[in-house]
Amino acid sequence: MTNNYVRIFDTTLRDGEQSPGATMTSAEKLEVARSLARMGVDIIEAGFPAASPDDLEAVRRIAVEVGNQPRGAALSPSKGQSEAKVPIITGLARANKSDIDKAWEAVKDAQKPRIHTFLATSAIHMKHKLKMDPEEVVGRVSEMVAYAKSLCADVEFSPEDAGRSDPEFLYVVLGEAIKAGAATLNIPDTVGYTTPDEFYKLIDGIIKNTPGIHEGITVSVHCHDDLGLATANTLAGIQAGARQAEVTINGIGERAGNTSLEEIVMTLKTRHPIFNLETGIETTQIARVSKLVSNYTGMVVQPNKAIVGANAFAHEAGIHQDGMLKHNLTYEIMRPEDVGVNQTKLVLGKHSGRHALRNRLAEMGHSLDEAELDKAFARFKELADRKKVITDLDLEAVIADEFYRPRDVFYLEGLQVSCGTLGMPTATVRLRGPDREIHNFASMGTGPVDATYKAIDAIVKTPCKLLEFNIHAITEGIDALGEVTVRIQGENGQHSMDPQSETVYARVFGGHGADTDIIVASAKAYINALNKLIIAKTEGVQPVHNNFGVMLG
Ligand code: KIV
Ligand code: ZN
Repeated sequence: MTNNYVRIFDTTLRDGEQSPGATMTSAEKLEVARSLARMGVDIIEAGFPAASPDDLEAVRRIAVEVGNQPRGAALSPSKGQSEAKVPIITGLARANKSDIDKAWEAVKDAQKPRIHTFLATSAIHMKHKLKMDPEEVVGRVSEMVAYAKSLCADVEFSPEDAGRSDPEFLYVVLGEAIKAGAATLNIPDTVGYTTPDEFYKLIDGIIKNTPGIHEGITVSVHCHDDLGLATANTLAGIQAGARQAEVTINGIGERAGNTSLEEIVMTLKTRHPIFNLETGIETTQIARVSKLVSNYTGMVVQPNKAIVGANAFAHEAGIHQDGMLKHNLTYEIMRPEDVGVNQTKLVLGKHSGRHALRNRLAEMGHSLDEAELDKAFARFKELADRKKVITDLDLEAVIADEFYRPRDVFYLEGLQVSCGTLGMPTATVRLRGPDREIHNFASMGTGPVDATYKAIDAIVKTPCKLLEFNIHAITEGIDALGEVTVRIQGENGQHSMDPQSETVYARVFGGHGADTDIIVASAKAYINALNKLIIAKTEGVQPVHNNFGVMLG
């Protein structure tokens, strides 16, 4: 328990995706899992396979495709990640045989599969949710951990709502879990209730008092952010001896979210002298993965979010700028390039060639095949005609827009808008449909976006509610790319199930679009979200390929 390596367990695709409003398609989940592996995440919780056959299939694909590839291999060999480590792939299961069977079915083809099972241990959950008495809970944990262990060598157990559980009872339950074969004991503060001091004591008590605990057992922490204490609690747990942190990208998750990966990793790195702990994360990938998750879920990162917010490294106040000019350490505790922000050193312009583009994309972690590079190069040239300097941020937006979107059901072929104060805003939209037929429609609206969306609705005929619309400029300057994210909910929508509360909720789909013309970006984002909704409705799990029909791999 005294080793100085903290395993990063990412649950963006389970606890993150499970939060209403963060739905990702299976292709998007696969791409996020790839990016997590490339970044050096140790364990990827890929989903909750018992939720539906689609969820099981999405986890299975990740197990097969990401769970058999070395993580971090594309990145700096100096970090030792080229040692060909493969991430552990896990799936969540309630403590019953059916869920555990499904989790095993989903993860078994990974090189390193894990089953993660949980059962609540707080008095309030046992009485009102489980309707089980404490003895029954102990018996069930013992039986189900043993069952999981009979299938899979690596089993993790979580006593749900541990933060509000009686510590003495936790020692008993966790002792039984160890006896039955669990090697990771994850301690969740499910409702984000504890304070750092309390959580430290909880973890310390577990390490000191759980019967049978030994060097081979990893204690893990999993905190929610209801009081804004998730990061502080996770760090307190780590200081008490936990050596696995369960986190999500951008802190997405149930209610106020989970502990964010970027905050934990950068705290351990920036305050290394205090913690003296290491992680395997290639931190320069953080900004990229944050953007990817935000684009896919449609959940915009608040500008003042630590590490990945747009303002996290902006020094606008005059006094700060003055200090920064004198010495950047006056106000900067981390270098933006350490998290992959502001890597604008190499700017590409109109005259840059295919080779330069390929190299830059590879450095950013995108390895494209020839067909993909052709497409990216065409987009790049088109953009270079409209924008003098193309930065990494522009390239990320183009790549997200071009490659990481669901298979096109409808595709924007053309858009003409008239707006202003002299008439009714009108939009004429041309879409290519599923059978490659062309549809044109013109609509009026209260503004150019409204008119455009009405015309799209008239063609696509998939009723939905627009829940959120966000627009921002990717870079500075009048010629900047505009980026739009939307979130929509289908009217007779798709549903999913939260494994903990067992409530069923309507899925929300996010869409993303980027263009120098903000109405075009708005149209792309809306079509992107509608395509996901249509695919989810008609096909369930979509075929995993990119927009060239090439298998991702
Ligand atoms: O918050 C929680 O309790 C969980 C468990 C299932 C680990 O997400
Ligand atoms: Zn959780």
